[in-house]
Amino acid sequence: MSEIVAARTPSYSRIELATVTSRAQANLLGNIHGGEVLKLADSTAGVVAQRHSGGPAVTAALDEMAFLEPVRVGDIVRTFGQINWVGSSSMEIGVRIETQPWDATTELRHVGSAYFVFVAIDTAGAARPVPALDPESEDDRRRMQEAEIRRAHRLAKRQEIEAVRLS
Ligand SMILES: CC(C)(COP(=O)(O)OP(=O)(O)OC[C@H]1O[C@@H](n2cnc3c(N)ncnc32)[C@H](O)[C@@H]1OP(=O)(O)O)[C@@H](O)C(=O)NCCC(=O)NCCS
Repeated sequence: MSEIVAARTPSYSRIELATVTSRAQANLLGNIHGGEVLKLADSTAGVVAQRHSGGPAVTAALDEMAFLEPVRVGDIVRTFGQINWVGSSSMEIGVRIETQPWDATTELRHVGSAYFVFVAIDTAGAARPVPALDPESEDDRRRMQEAEIRRAHRLAKRQEIEAVRLS
């Protein structure tokens, strides 16, 4: 029988990570490869998912990843992760990515945002229930509504594609 866990707030699992980028992460143009930025965002979302669900969770989908500005070698990259929405075993986590250029003082630049769906899993790799989400602020409630819109679009798109394949 699974243990019943009380609802958790977004601040319970919210996280900020920082790292310094290196030449090994660069693309042919000399900027940081998009996949490296994506990996940082995915890792950040993974920590949030594990904290909220109290155990292992895997990336199920990436709903959206916007690259707004290039990240340069040596920049400090900061990622901010927050849970936006929960289902029965799935969670949407938003990640904001900012950089602090190595040759500037304190100016932070918003370089990207991503929305991940994580699914909490048990020791057999099957989906397991997650605690409900207890939004604390107007911003949390807005994020929850926006996540519901993304989920509705994702499900509608999947159904539409399946219908075309079956026709
Ligand atoms: C994610 C995974 C556990 C889902 O397993 P599953 O048997 O399809 O699970 P279910 O059909 O019971 O769905 C469980 C939940 O996952 C959600 N889900 C499953 N696939 C999804 C997808 N592609 N996108 C979004 N949500 C998805 C379902 O909507 C459901 O959500 P809910 O419980 O909140 O209603 C499984 O597909 C898996 O292990 N995938 C590989 C994950 C991985 O290795 N990630 C690293 C990427 S390299």
